Amino acid sequence: MILLLVALSFSDPIAQGKSKFLGNVIGGNVPSNFVNYWNQVTPENGCKWGSVQASQSSWNWAECDVAYNWAKSRNLTFKFHCLVWGSQEPGWIGSLSNDAKKTAVTTWINAVAARYNSIDLIDVVNEVLHAPASYREAIGGSGSTGWDWIVWAFTQTRSAFPSSKLLINEYGIINDSNEARQLIEIVNILKSRNLVDGIGIQCHQFNVNSLSAASAKSVLDQLGATGRPIYSSEFDANGNNEASQATIYQRIFPAIWEHSSVKGVTLWGYITGTTWKDGTGIVEQNGNERQAMTWLKQYVASH
Ligand SMILES: *[C@@H]1O[C@H](CO)[C@@H](O)[C@H](O)[C@H]1NC(C)=O
Ligand SMILES: *[C@@H]1O[C@H](CO)[C@@H](O)[C@H](O)[C@H]1NC(C)=O
Repeated sequence: MILLLVALSFSDPIAQGKSKFLGNVIGGNVPSNFVNYWNQVTPENGCKWGSVQASQSSWNWAECDVAYNWAKSRNLTFKFHCLVWGSQEPGWIGSLSNDAKKTAVTTWINAVAARYNSIDLIDVVNEVLHAPASYREAIGGSGSTGWDWIVWAFTQTRSAFPSSKLLINEYGIINDSNEARQLIEIVNILKSRNLVDGIGIQCHQFNVNSLSAASAKSVLDQLGATGRPIYSSEFDANGNNEASQATIYQRIFPAIWEHSSVKGVTLWGYITGTTWKDGTGIVEQNGNERQAMTWLKQYVASH
């Protein structure tokens, strides 16, 4: 009995009881040790429009359901990723008329709302600076704000999901104050219409591997000055080896985790050999923890 209690106490998620979450992605199935580490869920690929509606007449929610149902069954924060994005769009969208494109996006947003009634956070538009939706002219184009298509997407999403927090999500921000400034211009347009509830910054390895903590903090201050919470939404890091990866975590992760505007961090994968970029895993497939994970657990426990 004592052994059982000890085992259970070691299986709490890393950020259990903390004021911010530490989450991860779920793909086609849930790793058995997910529950021991993470207390927020983002679907890796399964909820992207091109995955769900690969052909216009057939909808495949199977992988999206896995992540949503698992998160909800454990009362974990679930983020939907994502509604409007220029990558992993359905291939058929390009050949439609503008009217039909607009109808198709509206149908997609409403179909997500009809299927999932308790989404906590939504990446409404993803990568507007780097991969804007191909169909943006059909939903308002630049218009008078310069970004009317984004305003349209958030307006539709607010009305379809009145209880969810709506986020804009982008990469290349944490390491670049000029890109951060461009994103803030869009956030302010949305903010003045009460359409945006948070800013997602991806923080992948190509943005954080050689970044200094001071530069990261300065961009976080810049974003935080909007008054909107920040989510580090797709964190990963890799070095030449396990030790150099751990060094990157030790340098950058605290600058993000300890920033008062940051409300949560989501890692983009954690099991070696299954992540989208080589060397970003922090737990081996046999369950052994790499140095970055050993450090992360003790760091978060004490901060
Ligand atoms: C989730 O929350 C509900 C309602 O508060 C509760 O009944 C249920 O036991 C919780 N489930 C888990 C796995 O914590
Ligand atoms: C930030 O990272 C991007 C890759 O997303 C890179 O192209 C860019 O040069 C970096 N900018 C700075 C200022 O470090």
